[in-house]
Amino acid sequence: VSDFSVSVITGGAGGMGVACARRLASRGPVLLGDLSAESLDGVAAELRDEGVDVHVAVCDVTDEASVDAFAEKARTLGPLGALVSTAGIGPPLAQDPRLVLDINLAGTARILDAFLPLAGERTVVVCIASLAAHRGFTIDFEGLLTDPLDPALYDKLSEAGGTRDDVLATYSLSKRGVILTVRRRAAEWGARGARIVSVSPGLIADTTMGEAAVTIHAGAYVQQSAVGRAGTAADIAGVVAFLTSEDAAYVTGCDLLVDGGVVSYMLAEADAVAREQWMAASYAPAPAS
Ligand SMILES: NC(=O)c1ccc[n+]([C@@H]2O[C@H](COP(=O)([O-])OP(=O)(O)OC[C@H]3O[C@@H](n4cnc5c(N)ncnc54)[C@H](O)[C@@H]3O)[C@@H](O)[C@H]2O)c1
Repeated sequence: VSDFSVSVITGGAGGMGVACARRLASRGPVLLGDLSAESLDGVAAELRDEGVDVHVAVCDVTDEASVDAFAEKARTLGPLGALVSTAGIGPPLAQDPRLVLDINLAGTARILDAFLPLAGERTVVVCIASLAAHRGFTIDFEGLLTDPLDPALYDKLSEAGGTRDDVLATYSLSKRGVILTVRRRAAEWGARGARIVSVSPGLIADTTMGEAAVTIHAGAYVQQSAVGRAGTAADIAGVVAFLTSEDAAYVTGCDLLVDGGVVSYMLAEADAVAREQWMAASYAPAPAS
Protein backbone atom coordinates (compact mmCIF):
# COMPACT_ATOMS: atom_id res chain seq x y z
CA VAL A 1 0.00 0.00 0.00
CA SER A 2 1.64 3.23 -1.09
CA ASP A 3 -0.94 5.54 0.52
CA PHE A 4 0.31 7.11 3.73
CA SER A 5 -1.95 6.18 6.63
CA VAL A 6 -1.77 5.59 10.36
CA SER A 7 -2.06 2.05 11.72
CA VAL A 8 -3.62 1.84 15.17
CA ILE A 9 -3.31 -1.28 17.31
CA THR A 10 -4.98 -1.98 20.66
CA GLY A 11 -3.21 -4.51 22.84
CA GLY A 12 -0.24 -3.12 20.96
CA ALA A 13 2.37 -4.31 23.46
CA GLY A 14 1.12 -7.89 23.10
CA GLY A 15 2.42 -10.62 20.84
CA MET A 16 0.00 -10.17 17.96
CA GLY A 17 0.02 -6.39 18.38
CA VAL A 18 3.79 -6.15 17.90
CA ALA A 19 3.75 -8.59 14.96
CA CYS A 20 1.03 -6.47 13.29
CA ALA A 21 3.03 -3.28 13.96
CA ARG A 22 6.02 -4.76 12.12
CA ARG A 23 3.90 -5.82 9.14
CA LEU A 24 2.04 -2.50 8.81
CA ALA A 25 5.01 -0.17 9.46
CA SER A 26 5.75 0.48 5.78
CA ARG A 27 2.42 2.33 5.41
CA GLY A 28 3.19 5.17 7.81
CA PRO A 29 3.16 5.76 11.56
CA VAL A 30 1.99 3.06 13.95
CA LEU A 31 0.13 3.95 17.16
CA LEU A 32 0.14 1.28 19.86
CA GLY A 33 -2.22 1.37 22.85
CA ASP A 34 -1.98 -0.94 25.85
CA LEU A 35 -2.36 -1.00 29.63
CA SER A 36 1.22 -0.47 30.78
CA ALA A 37 3.39 2.50 29.81
CA GLU A 38 6.44 0.46 30.72
CA SER A 39 5.73 -2.40 28.35
CA LEU A 40 4.71 0.05 25.60
CA ASP A 41 8.02 1.89 25.99
CA GLY A 42 9.95 -1.39 25.82
CA VAL A 43 8.19 -2.46 22.63
CA ALA A 44 8.52 1.02 21.10
CA ALA A 45 12.30 1.05 21.68
CA GLU A 46 12.59 -2.31 19.92
CA LEU A 47 10.47 -1.21 16.95
CA ARG A 48 12.25 2.15 16.66
CA ASP A 49 15.56 0.26 16.35
CA GLU A 50 14.00 -1.55 13.39
CA GLY A 51 13.09 1.80 11.78
CA VAL A 52 9.38 1.83 12.64
CA ASP A 53 7.76 5.26 13.15
CA VAL A 54 6.09 4.17 16.38
CA HIS A 55 3.90 6.15 18.79
CA VAL A 56 2.44 4.82 22.03
CA ALA A 57 -0.36 5.75 24.43
CA VAL A 58 -1.75 4.05 27.50
CA CYS A 59 -5.23 2.88 26.52
CA ASP A 60 -7.46 0.71 28.71
CA VAL A 61 -10.33 -0.56 26.57
CA THR A 62 -12.55 -0.95 29.64
CA ASP A 63 -12.43 2.83 30.15
CA GLU A 64 -14.41 4.96 27.68
CA ALA A 65 -12.47 8.15 28.48
CA SER A 66 -9.16 6.36 27.91
CA VAL A 67 -10.42 5.00 24.58
CA ASP A 68 -11.66 8.45 23.48
CA ALA A 69 -8.27 10.01 24.32
CA PHE A 70 -6.58 7.25 22.31
CA ALA A 71 -8.73 8.03 19.26
CA GLU A 72 -7.91 11.73 19.68
CA LYS A 73 -4.20 10.92 19.66
CA ALA A 74 -4.67 8.82 16.49
CA ARG A 75 -6.43 11.74 14.79
CA THR A 76 -3.34 13.95 15.21
CA LEU A 77 -1.09 11.47 13.38
CA GLY A 78 -2.82 11.34 9.99
CA PRO A 79 -5.61 9.56 8.09
CA LEU A 80 -6.74 6.30 9.69
CA GLY A 81 -5.58 3.19 7.83
CA ALA A 82 -5.61 -0.14 9.63
CA LEU A 83 -7.30 -0.31 13.04
CA VAL A 84 -6.42 -3.63 14.64
CA SER A 85 -8.22 -4.56 17.85
CA THR A 86 -6.12 -7.18 19.63
CA ALA A 87 -6.61 -6.17 23.29
CA GLY A 88 -7.89 -9.25 25.04
CA ILE A 89 -7.53 -11.68 27.91
CA GLY A 90 -8.38 -15.35 28.17
CA PRO A 91 -7.86 -18.62 30.03
CA PRO A 92 -5.83 -19.74 31.82
CA LEU A 93 -4.31 -16.35 32.76
CA ALA A 94 -7.66 -14.59 33.12
CA GLN A 95 -9.58 -15.51 36.27
CA ASP A 96 -12.60 -13.18 36.20
CA PRO A 97 -15.21 -13.99 33.53
CA ARG A 98 -16.86 -10.54 33.90
CA LEU A 99 -13.56 -8.86 33.02
CA VAL A 100 -13.11 -11.23 30.08
CA LEU A 101 -16.45 -10.08 28.66
CA ASP A 102 -15.75 -6.42 29.41
CA ILE A 103 -12.31 -6.35 27.75
CA ASN A 104 -12.88 -8.68 24.81
CA LEU A 105 -16.38 -7.67 23.75
CA ALA A 106 -17.35 -4.32 25.29
CA GLY A 107 -13.75 -3.12 24.81
CA THR A 108 -13.97 -3.85 21.09
CA ALA A 109 -17.28 -1.97 20.88
CA ARG A 110 -15.81 1.06 22.72
CA ILE A 111 -12.92 1.17 20.25
CA LEU A 112 -15.30 0.95 17.27
CA ASP A 113 -17.49 3.75 18.65
CA ALA A 114 -14.52 6.03 19.29
CA PHE A 115 -12.83 5.44 15.92
CA LEU A 116 -15.88 5.46 13.60
CA PRO A 117 -15.72 9.28 13.21
CA LEU A 118 -12.10 8.90 11.97
CA ALA A 119 -13.00 6.33 9.31
CA GLY A 120 -12.40 7.13 5.67
CA GLU A 121 -11.63 5.42 2.37
CA ARG A 122 -8.32 4.01 3.61
CA THR A 123 -9.71 2.60 6.83
CA VAL A 124 -9.96 -1.13 7.45
CA VAL A 125 -10.77 -2.51 10.89
CA VAL A 126 -9.65 -5.97 11.94
CA CYS A 127 -11.08 -7.23 15.23
CA ILE A 128 -9.32 -10.26 16.66
CA ALA A 129 -11.88 -12.89 17.66
CA SER A 130 -10.89 -16.54 18.27
CA LEU A 131 -11.51 -20.09 17.15
CA ALA A 132 -13.33 -20.30 20.49
CA ALA A 133 -16.10 -18.21 18.90
CA HIS A 134 -16.72 -21.18 16.61
CA ARG A 135 -17.78 -23.40 19.50
CA GLY A 136 -21.34 -24.40 18.67
CA PHE A 137 -22.93 -23.51 22.02
CA THR A 138 -22.27 -19.81 21.46
CA ILE A 139 -24.93 -19.71 18.72
CA ASP A 140 -27.63 -20.24 21.37
CA PHE A 141 -26.71 -16.88 22.95
CA GLU A 142 -26.46 -14.75 19.83
CA GLY A 143 -29.72 -12.99 20.69
CA LEU A 144 -28.18 -11.70 23.93
CA LEU A 145 -24.90 -10.65 22.33
CA THR A 146 -26.41 -7.92 20.16
CA ASP A 147 -25.72 -5.13 22.69
CA PRO A 148 -22.03 -5.44 23.73
CA LEU A 149 -22.16 -2.29 25.89
CA ASP A 150 -25.18 -3.33 27.98
CA PRO A 151 -23.86 -3.18 31.59
CA ALA A 152 -26.15 -6.09 32.49
CA LEU A 153 -24.88 -8.30 29.66
CA TYR A 154 -22.84 -10.64 31.86
CA ASP A 155 -25.78 -11.18 34.22
CA LYS A 156 -28.16 -11.82 31.32
CA LEU A 157 -25.79 -14.35 29.75
CA SER A 158 -25.24 -15.95 33.13
CA GLU A 159 -28.98 -16.26 33.89
CA ALA A 160 -29.52 -17.82 30.47
CA GLY A 161 -26.88 -20.46 31.31
CA GLY A 162 -24.26 -19.14 28.87
CA THR A 163 -21.30 -18.14 31.01
CA ARG A 164 -21.51 -20.94 33.62
CA ASP A 165 -19.26 -18.54 35.57
CA ASP A 166 -16.49 -20.17 33.60
CA VAL A 167 -13.67 -18.24 31.93
CA LEU A 168 -13.46 -20.50 28.87
CA ALA A 169 -17.21 -20.41 28.21
CA THR A 170 -17.33 -16.64 28.72
CA TYR A 171 -14.25 -16.17 26.53
CA SER A 172 -15.98 -18.12 23.75
CA LEU A 173 -19.14 -15.98 24.10
CA SER A 174 -17.13 -12.75 24.14
CA LYS A 175 -15.44 -13.69 20.88
CA ARG A 176 -18.73 -14.79 19.25
CA GLY A 177 -19.94 -11.31 20.23
CA VAL A 178 -16.96 -9.77 18.40
CA ILE A 179 -17.85 -11.67 15.20
CA LEU A 180 -21.49 -10.54 15.47
CA THR A 181 -20.48 -6.94 16.18
CA VAL A 182 -18.36 -6.86 13.02
CA ARG A 183 -21.24 -8.29 11.01
CA ARG A 184 -23.75 -5.80 12.41
CA ARG A 185 -21.51 -2.78 11.97
CA ALA A 186 -20.29 -3.43 8.41
CA ALA A 187 -22.87 -1.07 6.89
CA GLU A 188 -21.99 1.92 9.09
CA TRP A 189 -18.28 1.58 8.30
CA GLY A 190 -19.13 0.92 4.64
CA ALA A 191 -21.06 4.20 4.49
CA ARG A 192 -17.71 5.92 5.10
CA GLY A 193 -15.90 3.85 2.48
CA ALA A 194 -14.31 1.71 5.19
CA ARG A 195 -14.30 -2.05 5.75
CA ILE A 196 -14.47 -4.10 8.95
CA VAL A 197 -13.64 -7.77 9.43
CA SER A 198 -12.81 -10.19 12.21
CA VAL A 199 -10.05 -12.79 12.33
CA SER A 200 -10.39 -15.93 14.44
CA PRO A 201 -6.92 -17.22 15.33
CA GLY A 202 -6.38 -20.76 16.51
CA LEU A 203 -3.58 -21.50 18.96
CA ILE A 204 -0.92 -18.80 18.49
CA ALA A 205 1.81 -20.22 20.67
CA ASP A 206 4.44 -17.44 20.59
CA THR A 207 2.50 -14.77 22.54
CA THR A 208 1.98 -14.41 26.30
CA MET A 209 -1.59 -15.65 26.00
CA GLY A 210 -0.61 -18.46 23.66
CA GLU A 211 2.25 -19.66 25.89
CA ALA A 212 -0.25 -19.96 28.72
CA ALA A 213 -2.94 -21.57 26.54
CA VAL A 214 -0.43 -24.22 25.50
CA THR A 215 -0.72 -25.62 29.03
CA ILE A 216 -4.44 -26.33 28.44
CA HIS A 217 -4.75 -27.63 24.90
CA ALA A 218 -1.52 -27.39 22.97
CA GLY A 219 -1.00 -31.08 22.38
CA ALA A 220 -4.54 -31.49 21.14
CA TYR A 221 -4.53 -28.40 18.93
CA VAL A 222 -1.23 -29.30 17.30
CA GLN A 223 -2.37 -32.88 16.62
CA GLN A 224 -5.74 -31.68 15.37
CA SER A 225 -4.22 -29.06 13.08
CA ALA A 226 -4.19 -30.04 9.41
CA VAL A 227 -0.75 -28.44 9.06
CA GLY A 228 0.72 -30.14 12.14
CA ARG A 229 1.83 -27.09 14.11
CA ALA A 230 0.69 -24.23 16.29
CA GLY A 231 0.29 -20.79 14.73
CA THR A 232 2.58 -17.78 15.20
CA ALA A 233 1.85 -14.09 15.67
CA ALA A 234 3.46 -13.56 12.25
CA ASP A 235 0.83 -15.90 10.72
CA ILE A 236 -1.87 -13.56 12.03
CA ALA A 237 -0.01 -10.38 11.05
CA GLY A 238 0.27 -11.64 7.46
CA VAL A 239 -3.48 -12.17 7.30
CA VAL A 240 -4.08 -8.73 8.85
CA ALA A 241 -1.78 -7.17 6.22
CA PHE A 242 -3.77 -8.85 3.45
CA LEU A 243 -7.18 -7.95 4.87
CA THR A 244 -6.16 -4.30 5.30
CA SER A 245 -4.79 -4.12 1.73
CA GLU A 246 -6.52 -3.34 -1.56
CA ASP A 247 -6.32 -7.04 -2.43
CA ALA A 248 -9.15 -7.56 0.07
CA ALA A 249 -11.23 -4.59 -1.18
CA TYR A 250 -14.45 -6.68 -1.41
CA VAL A 251 -14.05 -8.38 1.99
CA THR A 252 -16.13 -6.88 4.79
CA GLY A 253 -18.60 -7.87 7.51
CA CYS A 254 -17.21 -11.38 7.86
CA ASP A 255 -14.88 -13.55 9.91
CA LEU A 256 -11.76 -15.32 8.67
CA LEU A 257 -10.73 -18.43 10.59
CA VAL A 258 -6.92 -18.71 10.80
CA ASP A 259 -6.51 -21.85 12.87
CA GLY A 260 -4.47 -24.32 10.81
CA GLY A 261 -7.57 -26.45 10.31
CA VAL A 262 -8.49 -27.23 13.94
CA VAL A 263 -12.17 -26.31 13.56
CA SER A 264 -12.40 -28.35 10.36
CA TYR A 265 -10.96 -31.29 12.33
CA MET A 266 -13.68 -30.78 14.96
CA LEU A 267 -16.44 -30.62 12.35
CA ALA A 268 -15.25 -33.30 9.96
CA GLU A 269 -13.00 -35.76 11.79
CA ALA A 270 -13.37 -35.71 15.57
CA ASP A 271 -15.46 -38.45 17.15
CA ALA A 272 -18.87 -37.38 18.43
CA VAL A 273 -17.80 -37.20 22.10
CA ALA A 274 -14.75 -35.04 21.43
CA ARG A 275 -16.74 -32.83 19.08
CA GLU A 276 -19.53 -32.32 21.63
CA GLN A 277 -17.05 -31.50 24.39
CA TRP A 278 -15.28 -28.97 22.23
CA MET A 279 -18.45 -27.39 20.92
CA ALA A 280 -19.73 -27.01 24.50
CA ALA A 281 -16.45 -25.43 25.72
CA SER A 282 -15.40 -28.29 27.92
CA TYR A 283 -11.73 -29.07 27.62
CA ALA A 284 -11.50 -31.56 24.76
CA PRO A 285 -9.10 -34.48 25.14
CA ALA A 286 -6.31 -34.99 22.64
CA PRO A 287 -7.29 -37.40 19.85
CA ALA A 288 -5.97 -40.96 20.17
CA SER A 289 -2.97 -41.29 17.89
N1 LIG B 1 -2.62 -16.48 21.50
C1 LIG B 1 -3.64 -17.24 21.15
O1 LIG B 1 -3.54 -18.46 21.13
C2 LIG B 1 -4.94 -16.60 20.74
C3 LIG B 1 -5.88 -17.39 20.08
C4 LIG B 1 -7.08 -16.82 19.67
C5 LIG B 1 -7.32 -15.49 19.91
N2 LIG B 1 -6.40 -14.73 20.56
C6 LIG B 1 -6.70 -13.32 20.76
O2 LIG B 1 -5.67 -12.55 20.18
C7 LIG B 1 -5.60 -11.28 20.82
C8 LIG B 1 -4.14 -10.95 21.09
O3 LIG B 1 -3.62 -11.86 22.03
P1 LIG B 1 -2.08 -12.28 22.09
O4 LIG B 1 -2.03 -13.72 21.80
O5 LIG B 1 -1.27 -11.32 21.31
O6 LIG B 1 -1.83 -12.15 23.66
P2 LIG B 1 -0.99 -11.09 24.50
O7 LIG B 1 -1.33 -11.38 25.91
O8 LIG B 1 0.43 -11.11 24.07
O9 LIG B 1 -1.60 -9.67 24.06
C9 LIG B 1 -2.81 -9.14 24.55
C10 LIG B 1 -2.55 -7.69 24.92
O10 LIG B 1 -3.80 -7.09 25.32
C11 LIG B 1 -3.50 -6.20 26.38
N3 LIG B 1 -4.69 -5.89 27.18
C12 LIG B 1 -5.29 -6.67 28.11
N4 LIG B 1 -6.30 -5.99 28.68
C13 LIG B 1 -6.34 -4.78 28.10
C14 LIG B 1 -7.15 -3.62 28.28
N5 LIG B 1 -8.13 -3.59 29.22
N6 LIG B 1 -6.92 -2.54 27.51
C15 LIG B 1 -5.92 -2.55 26.59
N7 LIG B 1 -5.10 -3.61 26.38
C16 LIG B 1 -5.32 -4.70 27.13
C17 LIG B 1 -2.45 -6.93 27.20
O11 LIG B 1 -1.76 -6.03 28.05
C18 LIG B 1 -1.59 -7.55 26.12
O12 LIG B 1 -0.49 -6.72 25.77
C19 LIG B 1 -6.48 -11.39 22.06
O13 LIG B 1 -7.71 -10.72 21.80
C20 LIG B 1 -6.73 -12.87 22.19
O14 LIG B 1 -7.96 -13.16 22.81
C21 LIG B 1 -5.21 -15.26 20.98
